[in-house]
Amino acid sequence: MTEITTAQPSRLTTAFDIPRPPGLTWYVQAQQPVGYEVSLTRGLLSPVNPALAKAVGADGRGGVRALVVVDRVVDKLYGTALRDYFAAWQTDATWLVMSGDEETKVLEQAVDVTRAMTEMGILRRTERVVVVGGGVLMDVVGLAASLYRRGAPYVRVPTTLVGQVDAGVGVKTGVNHGTHKNRLGTYFAPEVTLIDPEFLRTVPERHIANGLAEIIKMALIKDADLFRLLEETVAHISSDTMANCGSAMSEVISRAIAGMLDELEPNLWESVLERSVDYGHTFSPSLELRADPPLLHGEAVAVDMAVCVALAEGRGLLGTTEAHRALALIAAAGLPLTHPVFTPELLQVGLADAVKHRDGLQRLPLTDGIGSCVFVNDVTAAQLAAALEFVHAYADHRTDGPGR
Ligand SMILES: NC(=O)c1ccc[n+]([C@@H]2O[C@H](COP(=O)([O-])OP(=O)(O)OC[C@H]3O[C@@H](n4cnc5c(N)ncnc54)[C@H](O)[C@@H]3O)[C@@H](O)[C@H]2O)c1
Ligand SMILES: [Zn+2]
Repeated sequence: MTEITTAQPSRLTTAFDIPRPPGLTWYVQAQQPVGYEVSLTRGLLSPVNPALAKAVGADGRGGVRALVVVDRVVDKLYGTALRDYFAAWQTDATWLVMSGDEETKVLEQAVDVTRAMTEMGILRRTERVVVVGGGVLMDVVGLAASLYRRGAPYVRVPTTLVGQVDAGVGVKTGVNHGTHKNRLGTYFAPEVTLIDPEFLRTVPERHIANGLAEIIKMALIKDADLFRLLEETVAHISSDTMANCGSAMSEVISRAIAGMLDELEPNLWESVLERSVDYGHTFSPSLELRADPPLLHGEAVAVDMAVCVALAEGRGLLGTTEAHRALALIAAAGLPLTHPVFTPELLQVGLADAVKHRDGLQRLPLTDGIGSCVFVNDVTAAQLAAALEFVHAYADHRTDGPGR
């Protein structure tokens, strides 16, 4: 702590001659190390796999409790296996089954989790909350854990592709509020995230494509090898191939996770606003807000990425062939390139919103060649309109088939 003594005025200067206290300011500076594990494993729910037991502190001899919060859909599919697992490890689990739908991602849901923690009388440091579900439930339970007594340990088991390569990997928690997505939230790391691609077997194909959008993003901004691997394998990517996790899919998932962690680690609290992981997330929030029927997040990100690819091409950052390869990959992943409400006007609105969000500058991430990223601050309305035309021209004359 530093004591800062400020000089006193020689005489009282306020209008009412109120005596001032001595001019002292204390400046407190502390640091809190943050560390958490992200672990890719197989057979997570097999009783011979100790990973989840270890995460809740169980050694099979009893006396360990945990609050297990499970997505309702996941509970139907994996509830029995989960219960058998904890029983095998002599863990006294309290179950809370909740909706994992975006519409229920609200503060009351997080409060419900804290209520269950209170009712269980969860010990503050040694008993864990385990969340098993997609990005929605992980965000809700992460928020609850961060609020409960100002922070309680929790463990994440993501069961969707978005959960496994994105939401489960960083430290953000949150719920929607008013008309705003994730408006209330915290930065709060779990102790561990345990990722088992086997959960992806039951994820609908549309949600696999949804997660692929974030993987393609990582490839475009920082991993040319991942991009090539995706080009080679995208036609065969499905819930089953992802769940089987052969060598190619294992590499796709692990490269996506490693790339994400590499980007997040030096900027965990987003103090730097130039974030390459914001690629595809500049115009997409405005699109997500207006698309009816609603788009999945990754679908809106895909449409945003497509226009960013075209913007980079228009500015000479990306060759035309590379731009076409990027658009082809997005389409082949089963993702949209365009959307009827994604007009030049909407692009301008989206960019203006992003400028506010990014503290006054565009800070727009663009690919400077596949696998590399730069930030620009001077994109014009004309460039946006031209980029949109480029994408539409490509989409209208695409000869590479309807995707997978
Ligand atoms: N915190 C972050 O950094 C971060 C990052 C990305 C996304 N998110 C958030 O994540 C949410 C999106 O996550 P999501 O795409 O996982 O959606 P989701 O959690 O809504 O899951 C999608 C659907 O799949 C179901 N489901 C979950 N696992 C399943 C399984 N194994 N088999 C079959 N069905 C299953 C769910 O019940 C749900 O209906 C958004 O709210 C977004 O804001 C957060
Ligand atoms: Zn995203």
